[in-house]
Amino acid sequence: MKKLILLLLPLHLFSITVMAQTPAYKNKQLPVDKRVADLLTRMTVEEKAGQLNQLNGGAFTGPAANDPGQKAKMEMVRKGQVGSMLNVTGVTETRTIQDLAVKESRLGIPIIFAFDVIHGYKTIFPIPIADACAWDPALSQQATAVAAKEASAEGLHWTFAPMVDVSRDPRWGRVMEGAGEDPYLGGVIGAARVKGFQGNFGKDNILACVKHFAVYGAVEAGREYNQVSVDRVNTWNFYMPPYKAAVAAGAATVMNSFNVFEGVPASANSYLVNEVLKKQWGFKGFLVSDWNSFGEMVQHGYAKDNKDIAMKAINAGSMMDMETRAMVSEIPGLVKEGKVSMKTLDAAVAAILTMKFKIGLFDDPYINCDPQREKNNVFTAEHRNISRDAARKSILLLKNNEGILPLNRAANIALIGRWAESADDIFDFWVANAKSDPYRPVTLLEGLKNAGAKIKYARGYQDDLKPDNALADEAAGIANNADIVIVNLGISGKLAGEDRSIAMPEIPESQLDLLRALKKTGKKIIAVVSAGRPLVLTKAEPYCDAIVYAWILGTEQGNALADVIFGDYNPSAKTVMSFPYAVGQIPVYYNHMNTSRPSSTDGQGNWYSRYRDIPNDPLYPFGFGLSYTTYSYSNLKLNRNSLKKGEKLEVTVAVKNTGSRAGEEIVQLYIRDLIANQIRPVKELKGFEKITLAPGQEKTVRFMLDSDMLSYYNSNGVLTIEPGEFRVFIGGNSRDVLEAKFNFE
Ligand code: GLC
Repeated sequence: MKKLILLLLPLHLFSITVMAQTPAYKNKQLPVDKRVADLLTRMTVEEKAGQLNQLNGGAFTGPAANDPGQKAKMEMVRKGQVGSMLNVTGVTETRTIQDLAVKESRLGIPIIFAFDVIHGYKTIFPIPIADACAWDPALSQQATAVAAKEASAEGLHWTFAPMVDVSRDPRWGRVMEGAGEDPYLGGVIGAARVKGFQGNFGKDNILACVKHFAVYGAVEAGREYNQVSVDRVNTWNFYMPPYKAAVAAGAATVMNSFNVFEGVPASANSYLVNEVLKKQWGFKGFLVSDWNSFGEMVQHGYAKDNKDIAMKAINAGSMMDMETRAMVSEIPGLVKEGKVSMKTLDAAVAAILTMKFKIGLFDDPYINCDPQREKNNVFTAEHRNISRDAARKSILLLKNNEGILPLNRAANIALIGRWAESADDIFDFWVANAKSDPYRPVTLLEGLKNAGAKIKYARGYQDDLKPDNALADEAAGIANNADIVIVNLGISGKLAGEDRSIAMPEIPESQLDLLRALKKTGKKIIAVVSAGRPLVLTKAEPYCDAIVYAWILGTEQGNALADVIFGDYNPSAKTVMSFPYAVGQIPVYYNHMNTSRPSSTDGQGNWYSRYRDIPNDPLYPFGFGLSYTTYSYSNLKLNRNSLKKGEKLEVTVAVKNTGSRAGEEIVQLYIRDLIANQIRPVKELKGFEKITLAPGQEKTVRFMLDSDMLSYYNSNGVLTIEPGEFRVFIGGNSRDVLEAKFNFE
């Protein structure tokens, strides 16, 4: 026994000695806050500033003006002057850089690797606006979970998504990245995407980043990097809810937006960051700027140089600096001059270190550098099947005269349109690491052939969309010998994403010429429209017997379209963004205010808010989408005709499948507050439910309304409501609805 104690004693002493030599921040047994606190005490002010520095690694997603070159960057990594890198992917590439940080820098603080995984990594999913048209948060969550699994298998820890900017302007190339025009739906889908990326912060997950904070979707005239001018009331009621919902869902990070808000750039806007994000919403993660958005405060006329930038950004609560290098170069001097407190600096650095500890980077800096995962978890058949399912559920059926769709596989099809065969024109700007083979998408031509269709194909128009009569005539020639025509219209996916604003988001003139030529053949015409935004279809629509809106559907685009065209899937999507009647109508959106003169029947006679040349209504309204079957809505009932704070109002409606095919219907619930101390929109989406109905089947759908759902945000972001009369609307879109009324007391 004595010998045993003697033996144990040195071992015990040994472990105390070792413990004494292992710094607390490396002790896995300690809670994260203790490890962070210990590490901060050991860091120099230069090393702290280094954690605020994010550098671009490989391919650029922004201006390369400041790039000092790879060698200089790696030297900064060795010196502990880089907290994160973006656009570096792959197990080998990330390990190489991580080695420099962990093994050569003084404290060995690991780097967090980030990338724009917007709608898939190598298995590409429908663009977010298309995915949102499924009104299926579980599906959106599944899509981002797959993206996270693939991205984390290739060394990544963090994505700059979900983008939750509400937008009403299809001239803006980035409407593709969000969830459309509605704040409530944008919040539901945004929260689901956060949960899909982050899961339980496991090794198959990546950190989410809510962007672009804030109100970037309101860029004037839909022009990228343009001015934003929205008052607080509209900011809070139309633009803030999705950011708030995504933060509430636990988003680890938030990205500053490029724009100015109330005269101050979002990158240094203390109201947005310190007051709203941190104080009101209790955000505990960290912020990252957009690409050089700190530096662009000079162009905005808000800062004079990098020192001014760094001081204004960090004192407003901002933190990590993407590609300006103002923080790493200026913070040490600003602290020494007392212009930035050590407390402020430590708070920013602690937020970043906390997240690195939380995802296990300090315990295993090579956690996502596993060649086996890289080999087994990417671009799998399972992932592609999930992508195909998501794609089918994102496809909008906007017109289907005489039930011309679905087609019989035996039909002789004339397939017309360059986009139908061009894989290069399917993907948008944000397709992560799927930009080369074997990750190319399935074209419509391939998808129809895969489905066994009998096809004759003709280009119909040139890539540059210039009119080409010869191509139109050739197309008409094959149409004459076919049973039916499918024409792939729209614009290239290359025009979707950042810095891709277009002033005329409509069907090109050359494609209208083609439609006229095809119409002369007398054949029925099915239009499949490809675009990363709602295009103005008004001039094309009369020539089309059916319109299938394909958006950009990702890897399985062609197969998913074939599934819908031949009826293997009955389309159920509903648009999350209004389709303008004309470009001049933009912005047009369902949740508009009534105005003082809403129509000719409002007592002012013919002096009312209108255009003399087009209707006020969009061609297709928010929430609209057809099916191969039909549905009826009846028996809208309220279980009471008034409610008080704390009570719930039950709203029920009967929905029946009145057609001959099973289908899914997205039942939508809207409200209206008729009179309030702050005017309210004519409709506001407050609930939806996607139901499946067999032919002839009827279901009762139930919603519960409470006072919070009826409330609005005042200019301080506080939910507010006054007693008064309300309306409730239920239907299959925002226009064709049943209506009832009740009072809030
Ligand atoms: C871009 C985008 C932003 C993206 C970032 C990194 O400029 O605005 O959404 O995440 O830079 O690529």
